[in-house]
Amino acid sequence: MRLQLPGLVMGYDEKGSGPPLLLLHGFPLTRRLWRKQLELLQDTARVIAPDLRGFGETEATPGPYSMDLLASDCFTLLDQLGVDGPVVVGGLSLGGYLALAFFRRYPERVAGLILAATRAGADGPEARANRDRNIALAQEKGAQAVAEGMLPRLLAPRSYEALPDVVDEARDIMRGASDTGVVGALQGMKDRPDSTDLLPNIDRPVLILHGSEDQIIPPAEAEAMHGRLRRSYLKLIPDAGHLPNLEQPITFSAEMRTFLKSLL
Ligand code: MLT
Repeated sequence: MRLQLPGLVMGYDEKGSGPPLLLLHGFPLTRRLWRKQLELLQDTARVIAPDLRGFGETEATPGPYSMDLLASDCFTLLDQLGVDGPVVVGGLSLGGYLALAFFRRYPERVAGLILAATRAGADGPEARANRDRNIALAQEKGAQAVAEGMLPRLLAPRSYEALPDVVDEARDIMRGASDTGVVGALQGMKDRPDSTDLLPNIDRPVLILHGSEDQIIPPAEAEAMHGRLRRSYLKLIPDAGHLPNLEQPITFSAEMRTFLKSLL
């Protein structure tokens, strides 16, 4: 589905009924990342999964896309969909940076957080230099060059042989990234604020899900967030890398369901 928001056409999926659950995808992906969770959780929640600015069916405007800008896009979408109470905000990787930005901006609108394959810290000098290299790559060769560069580390090493459909699916989802969107998101992630000090102030329940073999964001980052949060539950998902919801959809969704039910 697509919706005209003030200043932005936004693509999104919506399925199920119950308490609202906003699902935010990672980089350089689209809302298709959450296809299985929409199916598996539709009996538990009203699941809303937008394409972030510059990805999938959401318009690509020139960057940078700050985390605040992307969080406010999602807030406007919820508003237009008539969701005006608290929501559970779940995000994977970039989506997790955004879930934290959403809490920082609209704490009264957050019933709980799901932080998947993400970290609280900002980019250090090495990560920032890597962002610049990827921005240059996207500008010279396009978004798909960045996507292809990420693919070999996106999944757990054994998923490449054991789960060929998931490899194809990940590659396919990344085809929905636009050149402008990739540059805008890389610029925004490079300058995102550090959320480490926010964690002890989050007085909502938080579910942390992380692939035990994540090659992009090490599981130690999930453990560090768990150590600073007041009300968190951490589950490391075996045989999963940076896309645990695609690699182990049943386990991942079951953890989400238990968490959602605990909030009712
Ligand atoms: C993501 O999966 O969203 C990205 O790997 C996050 C990042 O590049 O920091």
